[in-house]
Amino acid sequence: MHISSKRVCPMRRSVEMQGALSSVLQLLLLSCSVRVAAGYPFRTPLDLDVTPRVTVLSSGLQGCKHFQSSAAVNYTTMLLEADSERLYVGARGAVFALNASDISASSALTIEWEASPEQKRQCRLKGKDNKTQCFNHIRFLQRFNSTHLYTCGTHAFSPLCAYIDEKRFVMSSQPEDGKEKCPYGPTTGYTALIIDQEMYSASQYEFRSFPDIRRNFGSLKLKTEDAPTRWLNEADFVGSALVRESLGSSTGDDDKIYFFFTEKSQEQTTSYSHSRVARVARVCKGDRGGRLTLQKRWTSFLKARLMCSLPEYDFHFNMLRSMFVIPGHTPQDTVFYGVFGLEWKNVKASAVCRFSLPDVQRAFEGPYMESQNSDFKWKEYTGKIPDPRPGTCITDALRAKGINISISLPDDVLDFVRRHPLMSQQIQPSDKRPLLFRRSTDYTHMAVLMVQALDGQTYPVLYMGTDEGWLHKAVEVKGHLHIIEELQLFDEPQPVNSLVISTKQMSVYVASSSSVVQLPLSNCNRYTSCYDCIFARDPHCAWNGDQCVDIMAHEDRSTLIQDIENGSKGCENTQDDVALRSRSVRVGDDVLLQCELSSNLATPFWTLDCSELQGYDLNSGFRTGTDGLLIIEARQDQSGLYTCYSVENNIKVPIVTYNVTIRPPSPLPVVPPDLIDTLPPPTELPTSKRPLPPPPAPLLPHSDLLSPRNMEVMYLSLITILGGLCVVLTVVLIYVGFCLQVGHRGKYSLRAAAAAYPKKHSKNRKQHRSSSHMELKTISSHCNGNSICNGVSKQQSSNIQDGGLLQIVPGEGKTSPNKGLLPPAPPLPPTLQRASPEYDIPSGLSATLPSMLRRMNGNSYMLLRQTDSENTSPVCYSFAEELNKILEKRKHTLLLPKPDESSV
Ligand SMILES: *[C@@H]1O[C@H](CO)[C@@H](O)[C@H](O)[C@H]1NC(C)=O
Ligand SMILES: *[C@@H]1O[C@H](CO)[C@@H](O)[C@H](O)[C@H]1NC(C)=O
Ligand SMILES: *[C@@H]1O[C@H](CO)[C@@H](O)[C@H](O)[C@H]1NC(C)=O
Ligand SMILES: *[C@@H]1O[C@H](CO)[C@@H](O)[C@H](O)[C@H]1NC(C)=O
Ligand SMILES: *[C@@H]1O[C@H](CO)[C@@H](O)[C@H](O)[C@H]1NC(C)=O
Ligand SMILES: *[C@@H]1O[C@H](CO)[C@@H](O)[C@H](O)[C@H]1NC(C)=O
Ligand SMILES: *[C@@H]1O[C@H](CO)[C@@H](O)[C@H](O)[C@H]1NC(C)=O
Repeated sequence: MHISSKRVCPMRRSVEMQGALSSVLQLLLLSCSVRVAAGYPFRTPLDLDVTPRVTVLSSGLQGCKHFQSSAAVNYTTMLLEADSERLYVGARGAVFALNASDISASSALTIEWEASPEQKRQCRLKGKDNKTQCFNHIRFLQRFNSTHLYTCGTHAFSPLCAYIDEKRFVMSSQPEDGKEKCPYGPTTGYTALIIDQEMYSASQYEFRSFPDIRRNFGSLKLKTEDAPTRWLNEADFVGSALVRESLGSSTGDDDKIYFFFTEKSQEQTTSYSHSRVARVARVCKGDRGGRLTLQKRWTSFLKARLMCSLPEYDFHFNMLRSMFVIPGHTPQDTVFYGVFGLEWKNVKASAVCRFSLPDVQRAFEGPYMESQNSDFKWKEYTGKIPDPRPGTCITDALRAKGINISISLPDDVLDFVRRHPLMSQQIQPSDKRPLLFRRSTDYTHMAVLMVQALDGQTYPVLYMGTDEGWLHKAVEVKGHLHIIEELQLFDEPQPVNSLVISTKQMSVYVASSSSVVQLPLSNCNRYTSCYDCIFARDPHCAWNGDQCVDIMAHEDRSTLIQDIENGSKGCENTQDDVALRSRSVRVGDDVLLQCELSSNLATPFWTLDCSELQGYDLNSGFRTGTDGLLIIEARQDQSGLYTCYSVENNIKVPIVTYNVTIRPPSPLPVVPPDLIDTLPPPTELPTSKRPLPPPPAPLLPHSDLLSPRNMEVMYLSLITILGGLCVVLTVVLIYVGFCLQVGHRGKYSLRAAAAAYPKKHSKNRKQHRSSSHMELKTISSHCNGNSICNGVSKQQSSNIQDGGLLQIVPGEGKTSPNKGLLPPAPPLPPTLQRASPEYDIPSGLSATLPSMLRRMNGNSYMLLRQTDSENTSPVCYSFAEELNKILEKRKHTLLLPKPDESSV
């Protein structure tokens, strides 16, 4: 076993060395390219960045059901039918009918629909990619009439559509041509609706064609205009919706169909140019086209720009990724929720903006834009506007004038429409700012549910899928989004393709490349204490005095406690159990008092014998991390009752109390190394005894947030440090590479997630909220593995890449062979960052590493790599657990057979 591990380790190392170097270089390159792109990191609105409160890895997901067919991949389209309780799913080469109450049930019905080998061959001849494009990707699946569904597929770059007999779940006829209804490729932007058995679709259907919004079926086919003014420019469609504005309209207005997309910008802009902009376009449902001008073209097409930006930072989210439309009690109450991204492909960031229908309508009633000549410079049109107003639907006023159909519209009106598709006013979001800004996450899709909370108010709850297969659940309170939780849906990172919510099933369905997942809308029993339940601010969940429960399951809601608005009130009189643990160690030992905070928004706060633990710096002998307190080289006067509090929303909640007894040293025999692993691991048992100290404590003062200017300085120094680090690392790598050739002993590797540990890098610079700085200290090994080198290098990672792993490999280990290679660390969630404490935490546990390694019986350690979070397996290891093991091991080697940690 020794031999085999020796064989394995050097190879692993050299590979990982390259990984370290390249990841550092990538970081450097990224910081540079980002810097060019409009100074992104220098004026980041960091204080607006929202951190998900709770992170749940896929291993911890509860009540989730999967559907995955061996016959299909690329699940993209979903249609939920509440009445039949069926979930229809379109994938690559198949359509499925699933039982919506349990999609994993074996009752799934399937229609297999793949392109023939001959069609695939022709697709290849067209030069298309036979790994992605030459399949039948189902892009459209909706109800046609009461008995039939309608579906379209790309069919190996030659789209087809077909009717599906719902009852028998078979195709009811031969597939028909889909060239004007469905795009040719699997990823082309596309949206379509069936309204009253007419199909409205928008896409750039073929690669070379212009994007187009079409109405198909029957004799009323319409499309957009290309000349002399092109109405759509490389438009990438993400959504569409019917708004029944005719209902209750005092002017006899028509229903309208809205289309949402991103396209190449036409407007002149004052600042730097935005090459792409987000838009909404609309047409009237009753449009019949013009007589001579605009024959078989829309006479009601108008478009306007959707704004979603943080103007004070010059941050414009121009890429629309997803749009969700919530119908209101009346059409005027319709609300649009959009997910927006940045134009720069190498920078991940998302914003969520909300728009109201009246704001959208106002833009369409405002001034038009005009292109004077062919130089594509668009300016506001200030001339005379013909009557009736171009682009409006047929209303009672027009009918009174004898115009009851768009064909009867005067020619000058139609000609104006033809040349003026763009409105001048930009549509601002509600409150003129995003509801949410999030760095390092690209949301791909979103669905919104209105949930009535105990306070009688209705809160929008947003379910947002990311490009890496996470689901973020957020609640909108007073114009801000609070992310309740982030859930890892898939072990393999993959983009979320679509999201559907069912209130009947209380489920959210998520489709991705590999499978469809069904999750409960909420999981209240995840919250174990009253404060945990209140802080979560989940409108579905409330505390019933004993546990966190789903309010839907409770008839009598008068006794339930919930505070969505502030997330702080209601638990003052509840007493949560606080675990009491005992630790008894000898003078000079290192003791780790574990205290895991379940919330990413909480910060730890420690007291010793009921008074605040002063000074966590190097000389105090204490070190805190986000999951524990380390007492270094314990002294006898450090005995006492240590209590860990979780501080969230300015409320201190006790988590655990340790009774630490530090005994004087006594000379004892050293355990032979071979016996170490036969010793039972010391265990801690929480006692039933109630702790003495902690009633919830008073509020803490609030800390100031950093100004963007300070951040600038910070980033500048960061880049300098990174540059320096790169040089140091290269030297170290070359040196170690030489060592490896000479031969090196190594037995096990340890990895620890280091990113979770906030770190203060200088006394006068405060750690900023949710930025994740990482400090890695390296001790490179001598070639003989016995003496210790002290090539210590420091690194602070850029916070663009939030994940990070520290891997330690001892040159010589006294562990058993089965500890050989620990499983690799898990992919860190994109947001394993902590909010900054109300006070400075001087350093994370990682900072204590060298002082411990120093005393590891002559073992020497070195930094192997700092990896991206993506490429690792999903087994979770806490840094503290690893440290605990190291500490325990060391104690055993130094001390006697009797475990020196006792349980009371
Ligand atoms: C389809 O699924 C495969 C495997 O899951 C994935 O590699 C590929 O990128 C997917 N293609 C599209 C167009 O989503
Ligand atoms: C769906 O499953 C539920 C229980 O799993 C069952 O009661 C119901 O009959 C099923 N519905 C259909 C349409 O198969
Ligand atoms: C794609 O085509 C190449 C040759 O042109 C062939 O080797 C490969 O197997 C094909 N892949 C698929 C998935 O059909
Ligand atoms: C629904 O449409 C299909 C396809 O056109 C047709 O065969 C069927 O009769 C229609 N059903 C009803 C109830 O109109
Ligand atoms: C429009 O009005 C004309 C007479 O003015 C009438 O003949 C025609 O049927 C009307 N069309 C519609 C669609 O109401
Ligand atoms: C939330 O806090 C604000 C300001 O502190 C207060 O005015 C409001 O009443 C609180 N709301 C609830 C539901 O406690
Ligand atoms: C802490 O432990 C010591 C002995 O280890 C004991 O005497 C003392 O009573 C304990 N204190 C509490 C509060 O349990």
